[in-house]
Amino acid sequence: MLKKESIASKYNPMNNILLTGGAGFIGSHVVRLLVAKYHDYKIFNLDNLTYAGNLENLRDIEDKENYCFIKADITNTAEIDALFQKHQFDQVVHLAAESHVDRSITDPIGFAKTNIIGTLNLLEASKKLWASNYDGKLFYHISTDEVYGTLGKEGLFTETTPYDPNSPYSASKAGSDHFVRAYGETYGLPFVISNCSNNYGPNQFPEKLIPLFINNIIENKPLPVYGDGNYTRDWLYVLDHAKAIDLILHKGKVKETYNIGGFNEWKNIDLVKLLCAQMDVKLERAKGSSEKLITYVKDRPGHDLRYAIDASKINTELGWEPSVTFEQGLSRTIDWYLGNSEWLNHVTTGTYQEYYEKQYQ
Ligand code: NAD
Ligand code: DAU
Repeated sequence: MLKKESIASKYNPMNNILLTGGAGFIGSHVVRLLVAKYHDYKIFNLDNLTYAGNLENLRDIEDKENYCFIKADITNTAEIDALFQKHQFDQVVHLAAESHVDRSITDPIGFAKTNIIGTLNLLEASKKLWASNYDGKLFYHISTDEVYGTLGKEGLFTETTPYDPNSPYSASKAGSDHFVRAYGETYGLPFVISNCSNNYGPNQFPEKLIPLFINNIIENKPLPVYGDGNYTRDWLYVLDHAKAIDLILHKGKVKETYNIGGFNEWKNIDLVKLLCAQMDVKLERAKGSSEKLITYVKDRPGHDLRYAIDASKINTELGWEPSVTFEQGLSRTIDWYLGNSEWLNHVTTGTYQEYYEKQYQ
């Protein structure tokens, strides 16, 4: 049986780290942090560049000696196995996934393939490569608070909250979490899992609430608030999530779960009003002009009422806490989108328009 033990003692400056999904939103911030901080590591970023994967997110580090990009699909069993044999990865930080709840409602099977089968392929390849010696090896699976389902008006998700996923996305992430734990129990594979709340910040694809609304305000388009807008999320600045991942990778304990959250609950409608107020100032538009774009639209099916994380375990055991307030993080995020209009133009042309028409008509 897999014993709980410290990962930190296994620190090895010669690590080959496989990070999956590093061309996406959170992954690109984690890759940048690891590449800058651990010069002796070799960081392999494996990503098949779906609509959400964008190498423009990593232009500033693509020539670094300790960084290597691999274009590959985690659903391809043979290809993944061959890459593990070739590069002899010591540790896996697994972020690659289909990540948008609305897309999972129209393509549940695609989500099951990527999020469950893709994770299984990585687990199998890790088990095979590491079978003879698990010393210093780690499978770090990045998951979401959505696996716990929805909260009512009170309470917080803890690491022991029972799984109760409601969307095809969260069901597929829950399935992948279960498989990771099963590989730990059955084969002794050393693993750790973290479940994080809603991230926001630079480089997020404009299908998620905050970047979608920033883009629509810039373009003077309606802001489609689902239902009555009284849904609550717990928002965390993406760089704080990246720092938590670094901490868990090096100081977390094998077989543990860590919840990560912002201690920062917002009702969607209040968040949107704050965003509108900041955008009015930054775009030098009349006070209240962005709020006029708010449009209540048909609700998301199975919409979870409230997520809120109790992050006291990672706080007390590993000393992690968010470094920015929501107002600061949101302001930095808006500045990034306003300063990167080329990035925004690139990702909002072509298939984005088709997605947008279909989702919001
Ligand atoms: P994202 O959609 O921005 O990026 C996902 C990345 O995975 C993309 O680069 C994409 O190209 C890649 N990918 C998708 N399918 C792949 C495949 N078959 N093979 C290889 N690469 C593939 O996602 P994100 O928001 O950065 O989320 C990253 C991870 O963090 C996901 O596992 C998600 O479930 C989890 N998470 C996200 C949030 C959030 O608020 N965004 C919160 C908690 C947990
Ligand atoms: O909680 C963590 C999860 O947060 C991650 O695991 C997911 O990958 C990530 O997408 C996010 O899921 P949400 O569904 O909470 O995020 P999204 O930005 O899609 O929506 C946030 C809230 O805003 C939610 O209540 C739905 C609402 N919303 C969203 C969109 C896109 C709207 O009202 N209108 C919209 O157009």
